[in-house]
Amino acid sequence: VARIVTLHSYRGGTGKSSTAANLARLAADQGLRAALVDIDLQSPGAHLPFGIRDLTAQPCLADYLVGRCEIEGTAFPVPAASGALYLIPARRGLKPNSEIMVHGYDVGLLSEGFDRLVEVLDLDVLFLDTPSGIGNETVGAVACCDSLVIMTRADHLVAEAAEALSLASSLAHPRQAVVVNMLPAGMANDAVRQQAESVYGCPVVAVLPYCPEMAILGNQGLAARDFPDHPIVAGFRQVINEFLGWRP
Ligand SMILES: Nc1ncnc2c1ncn2[C@@H]1O[C@H](COP(=O)(O)OP(=O)(O)O)[C@@H](O)[C@H]1O
Ligand SMILES: [Mg+2]
Repeated sequence: VARIVTLHSYRGGTGKSSTAANLARLAADQGLRAALVDIDLQSPGAHLPFGIRDLTAQPCLADYLVGRCEIEGTAFPVPAASGALYLIPARRGLKPNSEIMVHGYDVGLLSEGFDRLVEVLDLDVLFLDTPSGIGNETVGAVACCDSLVIMTRADHLVAEAAEALSLASSLAHPRQAVVVNMLPAGMANDAVRQQAESVYGCPVVAVLPYCPEMAILGNQGLAARDFPDHPIVAGFRQVINEFLGWRP
């Protein structure tokens, strides 16, 4: 079973952050001790689906990376139906963390911090929500995970495959699977699944439907909490049960 799970896509807007938030919430609802780290320092947003608007008083990942606090001081408990759920936000407010921008940080602190979170919070699973592209944080998160979820969209499946695959294969790790998101109504699930499997050369663990409810709520919504009976939530559960190996 998975302990550190990274969600990656080369392009933005494939649904990494929404999927990461839903997987974390569903894992906790299933009785697990779960956490979600927002490592998107440039454009953080993993806190939004949990209704957190003001991070001014909350130590974040960026504070840890510049040595201002311990990683465990950045874990913020958020509600779940069972288990335990923690969020580690990327940075405070909208102001870029100038220390990080100017001076950088030791990338080894990322995997050290993730291991420490698993230990101190006694986690079953830690989800890493990455920025798009191949920046330091993404490379660090792909390199240190034991399970990699590559996110893509049904409508630009082929276009982004090469870059996602070259990053994944340059950083060898045991398990990876693809999640195809935003399947338009009327597009055949099986055809898209087959195409994705041949392009990516690894299993497709779920094909998630385009979900107007999610589009309308934007990053403020959390399907697993707000409309748990929607088919997209069944797709998220499939990822937890079948790919990550956590069965209810
Ligand atoms: N299956 C879906 N159907 C409709 N909208 C979706 C779906 N998945 C994600 N979205 C919406 O698409 C937008 C981008 O998703 P997000 O998770 O922020 O992508 P990323 O983190 O990969 O950039 C968000 O507004 C989100 O609510
Ligand atoms: Mg995102």
